[in-house]
Amino acid sequence: MKIAIMGFGTVGSGAYETALNAGGIEVVRILARHGREGYENLNGIITSNIDDITGDPEIELVVESIGGLHPAREYVLACLRAGKHVVTPNKNLVSACYGELMSEAAANGVKLRFTSSAGGGIPWLFNLLRTKRCDEIEEVRGIVNGTCNYILDAMHDKGADFGEMLGIAQELGYAEADPSSDIEGTDTLRKTVISANLAFDAAISEEEVPCYGIDTIKACDIAYLKEKGLVCKLMMNAKRKGDSIEVYVEPAAFPAGSLEANVKANNNLITLTARDLGTQSFYGQGAGMMPTGQSVVQDILDIRDGKEQDIPAGGASALKADNSKAVHRYYIRHDRMCEHMEPLVDTYEERDGIYFCISKPLAVEEMHRMGHHRKEKGKDMFFAALTE
Ligand code: HSE
Repeated sequence: MKIAIMGFGTVGSGAYETALNAGGIEVVRILARHGREGYENLNGIITSNIDDITGDPEIELVVESIGGLHPAREYVLACLRAGKHVVTPNKNLVSACYGELMSEAAANGVKLRFTSSAGGGIPWLFNLLRTKRCDEIEEVRGIVNGTCNYILDAMHDKGADFGEMLGIAQELGYAEADPSSDIEGTDTLRKTVISANLAFDAAISEEEVPCYGIDTIKACDIAYLKEKGLVCKLMMNAKRKGDSIEVYVEPAAFPAGSLEANVKANNNLITLTARDLGTQSFYGQGAGMMPTGQSVVQDILDIRDGKEQDIPAGGASALKADNSKAVHRYYIRHDRMCEHMEPLVDTYEERDGIYFCISKPLAVEEMHRMGHHRKEKGKDMFFAALTE
């Protein structure tokens, strides 16, 4: 099968390498602004003109690994309209344009696959869809950002510095081009939207999902939680509740013996709960050149070999995001015990002018509102849900 790769960064080159090993796939075009060091032999097939791909009848499938929304969306639509299958690891694009891309693919009789857009090298979405063939999904949750897990794990285990570990995660190719989307939780948010929409045949948008990241965490939070036998992780949460879905992204503190607490380095741990199957977890590398590249190539091979996948068109169910009843206790680190805080707090300890609090049961929406308000004002605060 002759294919093109649009975007030749970490994932694009990982897909290229894996395609070479897989055999039977020939990369005939690469859309990039310039060549990549170490790949000078490919300079002859590099183009900056999308027409060289859409206009080439020999190219059957295009990998979109440009990232971001524009021009990725326009290029993917052009490829689908030109009758080419598309495989993409671009969570930004799939999260924001899922319904539109699926209907464009259907209208043109081609496939769109995006297994690598959540879970990196883990065949998470693939297995979520398989489970759905004969069961009903009740919940999807987990650690889905390798960069954040890498940072949190190093801070917890070695007392490492947040900024330094973020720099290393960037060097290792785990982090996004703009790593604020990793640490502020938006990367996890996008993977949550994709996973929840597939799990529940829903059409949830990013704007409906409360999201708080780990960018305000400090060594004192990790140390305090560790003292209490807890480990902090950034979590995707999406649970069916009657006719609606509770869906949000936030840090959570897990008992040291739990599965989540023991997820190391850049690994992800994603768990589904289904009515008959019960709970099933998927663990592995959620980021990086070769794991994500391999997931891309698995999608290419499935399309090449005519293996169908039952991907919902998006929004078939009437389930809507609704967090109005989502409530739990939080660990909150605050710089003062003001009149707004006092009624929310169950117990607290003051150490050197810093307040380490355990809240009363609090609405998720209220906690997030407070967290973002403090962040906007440049005030010191961090919170993590307590998993009971
Ligand atoms: N920046 C992402 C992560 C890459 O760290 O998980 C994989 O989606």
